[in-house]
Amino acid sequence: MVSLWMEDRDRTAWAGKTSLNDGSGPADVVVVGAGITGLMTALLLARAGKDVLVLEARTVGAGTTGNTTAKISLLQSNHLSKIIARHGRSTAKAYVEGNREGMEWILHHCDTHGIPVQREDAYTYAQSARGVPSARAEWLACSAVGLPVTWDDHADVPFSFHGGVRLPRQAQFDPMPFLDSLAGELLDHGGRIAEGVRVRRVSSDGDRLRLHVDTGGGRQTGKGKEEDTQVVAKQLVLATGIPILDRGGYFARLKPSRSYCMAYKVPGPLTRPMMISTDSPTRSVRYAPTADGDLLIVGGAGHPVGRRKSPTAALAELDDWTQRHYPGAQRTHYWSAQDYTPIDQLPYVGPILPNNEKIFVATGFNKWGMTNGPAAALALSSRILGGRMDWADAFASWSPHELSGLTTAMSANLEVGFNLARGWITPATRITRRDPSGDEGGVVSGPPWDLQARCVVDGVEHTVSPVCTHLGGIVNWNDADKAWECPLHGSRFAPDGTLLEGPATRDLTRSR
Ligand SMILES: Cc1cc2nc3c(=O)[nH]c(=O)nc-3n(C[C@H](O)[C@H](O)[C@H](O)COP(=O)(O)OP(=O)(O)OC[C@H]3O[C@@H](n4cnc5c(N)ncnc54)[C@H](O)[C@@H]3O)c2cc1C
Ligand code: FES
Repeated sequence: MVSLWMEDRDRTAWAGKTSLNDGSGPADVVVVGAGITGLMTALLLARAGKDVLVLEARTVGAGTTGNTTAKISLLQSNHLSKIIARHGRSTAKAYVEGNREGMEWILHHCDTHGIPVQREDAYTYAQSARGVPSARAEWLACSAVGLPVTWDDHADVPFSFHGGVRLPRQAQFDPMPFLDSLAGELLDHGGRIAEGVRVRRVSSDGDRLRLHVDTGGGRQTGKGKEEDTQVVAKQLVLATGIPILDRGGYFARLKPSRSYCMAYKVPGPLTRPMMISTDSPTRSVRYAPTADGDLLIVGGAGHPVGRRKSPTAALAELDDWTQRHYPGAQRTHYWSAQDYTPIDQLPYVGPILPNNEKIFVATGFNKWGMTNGPAAALALSSRILGGRMDWADAFASWSPHELSGLTTAMSANLEVGFNLARGWITPATRITRRDPSGDEGGVVSGPPWDLQARCVVDGVEHTVSPVCTHLGGIVNWNDADKAWECPLHGSRFAPDGTLLEGPATRDLTRSR
């Protein structure tokens, strides 16, 4: 399950050139997370003379950025009409301005560093009559903030099209050459990147921050692996997708959603514009140039993390749709990733708590992080350097726009409460229903005082505690990704309980 972008990467330009111990004394800024947001923030700060260290739990791009669809677009499904409905036109305009600046930064960087980008029109379209009102609402919203959109009744696509908004000359790319270029330039400016370093927790030490990290060498204890190293920083940026610290309660202000992408070799003509439907089930389409010719990328089958019974069925449906409309399409790649929808539609970029100028967050990009991530990097780096972007209020982590999300927050957290209770109680009814041994798959069973998560993958059986190490949710099995997923705030774990991602920072407990 390796994405088209992460496959066969040439990392020689910079990988392995620095490690955790290369610096002397505390870093000016430690950035946690080497996706588009973290690396660009780090580079902007290093360019301004800051001593910057990037800590990445896996490898550069291994989070959502290396598993995205990578459309760089100001037309973002029907997101803008939702922002206008909730926050009004001037905030929506500021949101678009931030995204435009992020987009222009990427395009300029790619242009000056020889990184390929394709300029294509973007569509938000209705795939049935049901989708027309929301597509039209998006057309009006885009027009209201001055985006040069048109309404098209027809488009050159082989699937059902009931009209859509078109924004000319948006862009798409392979995000990995871009990340590699950011990483290389960061090192040239004296910055450091340490891969395979997971931050577990952060404590205060006078006016410094002490990061407790796991580099893989920690001692295994009854409570999981101990941190083995400490890193000291003056300021900290959490560019980890969902923030890994609970301060600020971001886990309760974000909805994690996982979705899937598939790449295909297609014998006939490919769709050139970037398409995304407003009505369900979501269809997202683009092409990608490769050494073996252009591939079609189809995305969709999204669901709240850990809450879909069998994501495999939705994936099969998406694959059928592709085969129907692109006859002879042969699947070459298949991957998945997750992103976070903010309860009030606007991203959270800024201090983790009001008036805290030491720890910053950047999250809530709602699957539009190719422009929101760079916008966040511009906003955070200018704030840390003492400046301010004019549009920054639309991205604030703490502001009056929070209040407009209160009702959504309450209902989201009611769902979380429901899933918490269900997770603890339902497995008891399952004790005798299914035993996964010998059978590929995973199941949580047992009474609440002795719950067990057992799975078999490629013939190997694993048994772990299903209790999520974040806040005690009970994980569910994802049959498409072959992973344990927490339905509360989206933490994910490998079959053997190893932490993959999410607000959790520790593995599931292994059964003895
Ligand atoms: C299927 C899908 C398709 C998408 N398509 C598009 C698109 O077409 N256009 C668009 O604009 N956006 C798209 N998005 C959204 C976009 O990809 C994301 O918003 C963006 O990549 C987020 O980047 P990031 O740098 O903030 O996070 P990430 O890329 O997830 O980076 C976070 C990094 O932090 C690391 N990390 C986490 N915890 C720790 C820790 N404790 N210690 C150390 N490191 C840690 C992770 O390993 C990861 O590498 C899509 C999202 C999905 C899920
Ligand atoms: S992710 Fe929060 S409890 Fe599991």
